[in-house]
Amino acid sequence: MAEPPYAETYHRLTKYHPSTIGQGHHIDWNHPPEQFKDFAGAPRFDLRPYLPTGETEEWQALAGLKDPDGPFSLPQLSKLLFATNGVTAMAVGGGQKMYFRAAPSAGALYPTDLYLLVRGHADLPDGVFYYHVRDHALLEVYPKGLAPEGAELFKRLSEACFGDAAAAEAKVAIVATAVFWRSSWRYGDRAYRRCLLDTGHVLGNLDIVAPRLGLGVSAVGGFVDHEVAELLAIPEDKEGVLAVLPLHELGTASRPGPSARASSDVEPAPTDDAILGIHAASAITRDKAASAKAHAEDGDDFMLDPKYAFAAGTKLKTSGEDLSEEIEIAILRRRSTRVLNREPLKLAELADLLAFAYRPDLRLPHEQLPAYFDTSLLETFVVVNSVEGLEPGVYYFAPGFMELLSIRRGSVRNEIFHLALGQELARDASAVVVHTADLEAATKKYGSRAYRYLHLDAGHIGERLNIAAIRLGLGVSGIGGFFDDEVNELLNIPGKELCVYITCLGRPAP
Ligand SMILES: Cc1cc2nc3c(=O)[nH]c(=O)nc-3n(C[C@H](O)[C@H](O)[C@H](O)COP(=O)(O)O)c2cc1C
Repeated sequence: MAEPPYAETYHRLTKYHPSTIGQGHHIDWNHPPEQFKDFAGAPRFDLRPYLPTGETEEWQALAGLKDPDGPFSLPQLSKLLFATNGVTAMAVGGGQKMYFRAAPSAGALYPTDLYLLVRGHADLPDGVFYYHVRDHALLEVYPKGLAPEGAELFKRLSEACFGDAAAAEAKVAIVATAVFWRSSWRYGDRAYRRCLLDTGHVLGNLDIVAPRLGLGVSAVGGFVDHEVAELLAIPEDKEGVLAVLPLHELGTASRPGPSARASSDVEPAPTDDAILGIHAASAITRDKAASAKAHAEDGDDFMLDPKYAFAAGTKLKTSGEDLSEEIEIAILRRRSTRVLNREPLKLAELADLLAFAYRPDLRLPHEQLPAYFDTSLLETFVVVNSVEGLEPGVYYFAPGFMELLSIRRGSVRNEIFHLALGQELARDASAVVVHTADLEAATKKYGSRAYRYLHLDAGHIGERLNIAAIRLGLGVSGIGGFFDDEVNELLNIPGKELCVYITCLGRPAP
């Protein structure tokens, strides 16, 4: 019998069980990972002078603000990178400065780094730049004179992306990577899941902010990993490329081609390192590129067809409030809520949250909708602890119909508390969104690379839930740790659906 794709093995190996949680992985508290890479002596381009200094007025004015020098000008790129992954808060603990970023990250470890590829820019030389979040600066990755010339750089990028039209035409592209050790220092082998979820959150911010600045984002998931890593000159045994994100001026893009491709499913070279194993197994290699089948986006759109037909449900009606107003202020203010107070959510609040995450305004042009990889891989279940007008219990969410279908009646507050490793956030949340996937079906479509897409998309949806919650004055936090094997039975979620991510929503305690 053929071996299952390695993604399934990795998922199994990294499950949390009540009997073994806390065992096996030793955290070296004396040697925490560095949060930033250092390119000593590299030419740097300071982006701070272009940031609005006051939080409200100037960021408010940013909405729809055109820069006379166009959407790729340094002021616009400065705002884009800041609101996507910049440092939005700082704390001092034990004599150390802690930097908190625009996107949340499991354990505040921030494995996600962003690189910028640029050509033909008025104020930047052609080349590859590392976005240093603490300094809010772009650092040139290649020593002087060694960077590929602009046309060559983007030719290589688009070739690595199978000739993707958006990559071929772009003048600026962002590439998101994860530095695995930052997260695995604390979370061991399971960290790859969190690297992907964290990066999905970053992509969520990018997608919300870019159109406000006149920019469209394409998300390319199908690329030859080694070729993109080589362009960035990153050490592949420590850092992996997770997404290629060409930018274009709104209204000028050619229709993006298929963005998600299957992995080559090369058997990973034997390694003791499960993270390098899953990253290699989910890679696309040049020699087996032919097997990296593309799947067109059309038809995979946004879970329009509910997968499960449960009993008649509750139709959700939004409040009609336009959450996109001043949405960038919500990104700047976003923090994960540490204590929720069990007070009920209004039904319309839950509807607004889910609509913002799953049903973005479909009147918007395609290029302004969230650039997910393949949302048909994901399903959503909602645990209702306390929502006005809804019986406590578990519901299946059908986004296309904005409907909640009951799958288990009666409170599961204690169960979700236990499942989330006894974290009070889950117990005291008013509603808990459980993102799931049928991993076997997903790997049939994309091989092990499915593992990347479904976690990136779940994190991306999670970020939209985060930003909508903050925008509505509600509380929110992601939860990446849960007892995998108990989720289905305790919540009555169909057995094939594996839990990918959890988002707690509610009212923040004062
Ligand atoms: C993928 C992911 C998993 C997380 N898991 C948990 C969790 O299990 N428990 C928790 O209290 N917070 C969790 N968080 C929230 C982080 O602790 C929080 O983002 C981090 O401390 C940074 O703070 P900030 O979000 O306020 O910027 C998670 C966040 C992400 C993105």
